[in-house]
Amino acid sequence: MNGTVLIVDDERTLARAVKAFLLESGYEAEIAPDAEQALGLLETLRPDVVFSDVRLPGMDGIELLRRIREFDPSIPVVIMTAYGTIEGAVEAVKLGAFDYLKKPVDLEELKLLADRAREHFQLRQELSYYRRRAAGDVPFAGVVGESPSMRAVLDQARQIAALDETPPVLIIGETGTGKGLVARTIHGGSRRASKPFIEVNCTALPATLMEAELFGHERGAFTDAKESRMGLFEAAEGGFLLLDEVGDVELSLQGKLLKAVEDRTVRRVGGIRDRKIDVRILAATNRDLERESQRERFRRDLYFRLAVILLRLPPLRERGQDVLTLAQHFLQRFSAKYAKPVERIDPRSHELLLAYPWPGNVRELSHVIERAVLWSRGPTLQIEPLSLEVPPDNSAALDDSAQPASSRPAGMDLEQWERSLIEQALREADGNQTRAAQHLGISRDTLRYRLKKYGL
Ligand SMILES: Nc1ncnc2c1ncn2[C@@H]1O[C@H](COP(=O)(O)OP(=O)(O)OP(=O)(O)O)[C@@H](O)[C@H]1O
Ligand SMILES: [Mg+2]
Repeated sequence: MNGTVLIVDDERTLARAVKAFLLESGYEAEIAPDAEQALGLLETLRPDVVFSDVRLPGMDGIELLRRIREFDPSIPVVIMTAYGTIEGAVEAVKLGAFDYLKKPVDLEELKLLADRAREHFQLRQELSYYRRRAAGDVPFAGVVGESPSMRAVLDQARQIAALDETPPVLIIGETGTGKGLVARTIHGGSRRASKPFIEVNCTALPATLMEAELFGHERGAFTDAKESRMGLFEAAEGGFLLLDEVGDVELSLQGKLLKAVEDRTVRRVGGIRDRKIDVRILAATNRDLERESQRERFRRDLYFRLAVILLRLPPLRERGQDVLTLAQHFLQRFSAKYAKPVERIDPRSHELLLAYPWPGNVRELSHVIERAVLWSRGPTLQIEPLSLEVPPDNSAALDDSAQPASSRPAGMDLEQWERSLIEQALREADGNQTRAAQHLGISRDTLRYRLKKYGL
């Protein structure tokens, strides 16, 4: 069998002719006379391709396209347009339509498009399956947030994902606010979803190594370069490159980075020719790059180039009730992970969750809930296992926070317990490692070693 096609058109004769032709060509095909019915069919039919007229009674084809992309961005949608007006079609393609088809429909052309879209879809499905499994997320649905500030950001992120040609996007926000998650989500929701998403942590390497890593090198470029090798820009061809912690790129490399971003070309270390690249650039940082650029620690021209589109993720403490929604989200995840039947959060914990300032943002919340799930007994998550210290000015409404437990809680193995004690000590010491180490009675080096070991 060839695959399943959904035809959305209110012109019954045409829709039937298309259906008959597709059936003859070995496809399964279904007709929906309007967008609402088409949306209703998505779940059960799971089409490989959708052909939709732009003009439909009620919701139009463009809106339908948008909704299908929200449902599953990997389903190719071909927009059919009768109006010779190319604008609608171009807009549709910008919004992520797979292609467009002019009416009156040429059936052979339609079948070719269906074949191409189906192949594309299958490839994409496979890839997106592995990627989703890796990320544990379906695009956008995986980013929890209903507060106005988060909705606004997610809306922008969706638009960025839908457009194929955009300048670079700079994602800023405190640590743990979800910059990495949003970057991956933009990729997952874009037409480039089946192409690579490559993430480089710019803190990790000194400039010379970083240069070879990003741009590649030719054979003999330096002593160890026995073979030539492509860099990450080239490896991301067709997809996205995320420059994570871009504020940490050394000044000496920033000029070359600017050139790559601006001219969309890279030159390998030791190479003599520029190679064209088709890569969308995302950059993330929790530093104030504007300030750094004023202080000449970051090139202004690079800053301006990267910050043409700015996505600012608000700190968790500015997201109101999202804290509770996220807590519930993590509660489900971790109670499933540890097979502990904790179902809800004690209302008294709600107050604490809302009052606590969350310096480590969503990441900290997920760690706190993970730990609380491990320590909890019974179906209601209690305030005690959270052991959060709310600063005095936030805690007027609360009693003293809970004391840390001193013996190993049931259900936690030694490593988990150790890790949780370290996290707690660090939190209590405001991230100061020396004080946390003192508190734990271990040396600072030991603490560092453990932090590394647990990836904290
Ligand atoms: N809105 C959200 N919904 C669900 N999970 C989230 C959300 N925001 C963040 N997370 C989760 O919180 C953790 C931290 O997010 P992420 O790594 O994206 O933050 P970050 O801003 O890149 O942090 P850093 O600046 O430290 O690199 C991840 O596990 C991520 O999946
Ligand atoms: Mg990150």
